[in-house]
Amino acid sequence: MIHATSSVLLLLSLALLAPGLTAKKCSLTGKWINDLGSNMTIGAVNNKGEFSGSYLTAVTSTSNEIRVSPLQGTQNNINRNSQPTFGFTVNWKFSESTTVFTGQCFVDKNGKEVLKTMWLLRSRVGDIGDDWKATMVGNNVFTRLRTLKE
Ligand SMILES: *[C@@H]1O[C@H](CO)[C@@H](O)[C@H](O)[C@H]1NC(C)=O
Repeated sequence: MIHATSSVLLLLSLALLAPGLTAKKCSLTGKWINDLGSNMTIGAVNNKGEFSGSYLTAVTSTSNEIRVSPLQGTQNNINRNSQPTFGFTVNWKFSESTTVFTGQCFVDKNGKEVLKTMWLLRSRVGDIGDDWKATMVGNNVFTRLRTLKE
């Protein structure tokens, strides 16, 4: 079983490395940290482009204790682009807010993967009259978080 898996992996790496010499692929899967120190982990992207993961924010506009929150997203699979666009929603578990992110997974000029994103943060308001001020916009840049084990 282990041998079979290794052979498949070897073949897969060869298949990926050959064209990879010209175009390195940006993959969403893994652990990321952004410019604010927030961390997120994204799982495998399935063949429909769907993925899920978790988000640990370093900042909050509330006074609540921060908790790890789930995220659900999709990656655009048209043309199997090596620098795909994506979007995901974070369902905050410590506030009544929801954030949507959209962005693109790039390989920068040093060959490093970077996620350039923008987000909308929707806060719950008690009155429809406050709807006008319930959404914030921002941007974040994520780089891959390397652990010592990797
Ligand atoms: C994100 O991960 C880094 C490295 O493991 C850690 O130092 C930092 O505290 C984490 N950020 C949050 C918000 O937990």
